[in-house]
Amino acid sequence: MLKMAVFVSGGGTNLQSLIDATQNGSINGEIVLVVSNRKNAYGLERARNASIKAETIKDQDLLIQRLQEENVELIVLAGYLAIIPEKLVQLYPNRILNIHPSLIPAFCGPGFYGIHVHEAVLKRGAKVSGATVHFVNEEVDGGPIVIQEAVDIADLETAEDIQQRVLKIEHRILPKAVQLFCDGKITVEKGRAKII
Ligand code: GRF
Repeated sequence: MLKMAVFVSGGGTNLQSLIDATQNGSINGEIVLVVSNRKNAYGLERARNASIKAETIKDQDLLIQRLQEENVELIVLAGYLAIIPEKLVQLYPNRILNIHPSLIPAFCGPGFYGIHVHEAVLKRGAKVSGATVHFVNEEVDGGPIVIQEAVDIADLETAEDIQQRVLKIEHRILPKAVQLFCDGKITVEKGRAKII
C-alpha cells in the first residue's frame, strides 16, 4: 500500500477528506505522516484524532529525513503555506501533489494563497472559479495539472462565499487525484499529466 505524507498549515479540511478516503478504502494508500510548519495548525489535531503521526517541522533537512524514515512515496500539500525546498522537489519528481483554489493558470503564483485567491477572483468579477490539483515543480503553482473542476460563482458576493463553494470541489478532486496516483493511473509526458 502506497505511503503518503500530508503537509498542512491550517484547519486541515482537505487533510480530513484524505483521511476519510483512506479509511473508507476509496484511496489505496496510507497516510503515514502529517507535517505542519505551524504547531497550532488544527490539521495536526485531525491527524492525532485519526492516530496518524503528526509533527511540526521547520527544518528542511529534518523534514527530508523524516520522509525517508517513513518511506514516503507521495507528498500531498493540503493548504501548506511554507516554501517547498528545491531539494525536496528534486527528490520527489512528479510525486508531490498540491491543491490550489483556482483554475490554474488564473489567480495563482506568488501571493495567491488562501482567501487572497478568492478576493482577487471577486475583484476581477470572474463568473466561474474552481480548484486545481497539480504536481509541484520548482515554479510556484507551475507543475503539470492533474485535475481541475470549475464552478459558477456569478451569484456570490463575498470572497468567503466563493472560498466555501470552491472548498467543496477541493474536497472532491484532491482525494480523486490521490486515488488515481495510488492506482498508477497518472502519467506525465512532455510536461502534461494524463489520466490513463
Ligand atoms: C484550501 O482552500 C486550499 O486550496 C488552500 O488552502 C486551503 C486549505 O484549507 N491551499 P484546509 O486547511 O484544507 O481546510
